[in-house]
Amino acid sequence: MSTDSRHTAIPVDETPVPETLTLTGTGVDGVEMPRIGLGTWPLRGAEARDAVEQALRIGYRHVDTAQNYGNEDAVGEGIAAAIHAGVLDRDQLFVTTKVNREHHGDARTVRAAVECRLRVLGLEHVDLVLVHWPNPDQDRYLETAWSLSELAEDGRIRAWGVSNFTPAHLDRLAGAGLRAPVDQIEVGPLRQSPAWQEGVRAHGAAITAYSPLGRADQDLGALEPVAAAAARTGRTPAQVVLRWHLQSGRAAVPKSVDPARQAQNLDVFSFALTAEEMAAIDALDTGEGPRRHPDEFGH
Ligand SMILES: NC(=O)c1ccc[n+]([C@@H]2O[C@H](COP(=O)([O-])OP(=O)(O)OC[C@H]3O[C@@H](n4cnc5c(N)ncnc54)[C@H](OP(=O)(O)O)[C@@H]3O)[C@@H](O)[C@H]2O)c1
Repeated sequence: MSTDSRHTAIPVDETPVPETLTLTGTGVDGVEMPRIGLGTWPLRGAEARDAVEQALRIGYRHVDTAQNYGNEDAVGEGIAAAIHAGVLDRDQLFVTTKVNREHHGDARTVRAAVECRLRVLGLEHVDLVLVHWPNPDQDRYLETAWSLSELAEDGRIRAWGVSNFTPAHLDRLAGAGLRAPVDQIEVGPLRQSPAWQEGVRAHGAAITAYSPLGRADQDLGALEPVAAAAARTGRTPAQVVLRWHLQSGRAAVPKSVDPARQAQNLDVFSFALTAEEMAAIDALDTGEGPRRHPDEFGH
């Protein structure tokens, strides 16, 4: 779908956004992560396998899974099916997974956890492994992050990162000389956590937005600035929201099982929002923060 030519008079920032974010941090020196990844929670079994294979056929080159989703086996089957069909080679794909609290610990514990993830995924290597939640109650996230950074340094994983880490958790890592390449946190139009994002950026970490469409538990088209930008650009409300993530500098992992919605969620690199449209979507933040806070929740 092309930009509506009647509106070309509106000043649009035409600077193209890059299709990858460069991850750099302790043990990680410039790994390219595709900006749009397929979210796979809460898919399982055949539905997960089919959604992944279909997404790879559509053109996705980043898949987001986790030990906790209980779907790494099915995600791996979807990847294998696409590779077997000649859709892509493994080295064209970026796979993110995440480790749970019971696998926080020293180098041996974390290495065993990563090897287990590879076995379940059926892969020889994984591109990005995240500490899924800091779980401050057990206070092992720092040594877990260290252990993952060592695996990256040794080339056993391409990159490591964290998820649901607040700036305070990142301060703790920084105090030990550790810089996380990426923090995957909840950011959607109504839950933007601007101070949290600023803190993550101050630590030099990239941000991946999870639940980037707000889990679609609100009608994105009912948000006036989103609807207005969708009407002007001839795009859907979800595309406008994903484009807002990209122009804000984030990666995003929208989940969809539907081929048309998967395709539109990936097709967000060829139009642009104006500075005014960006500001109007920024202003939708309710100040509510994430659904689950890492000081109270984790697995
Ligand atoms: N790190 C963490 O702690 C954490 C936590 C939560 C989630 N995540 C990751 O983030 C991913 C995405 O988050 P999420 O699943 O919570 O929420 P989301 O991606 O914001 O929203 C998913 C919902 O939006 C619908 N949808 C997708 N594309 C759409 C479109 N173009 N138009 C209209 N509706 C659309 C989907 O339905 P259909 O499938 O029917 O299209 C689904 O109901 C997860 O799958 C998971 O990989 C990570």
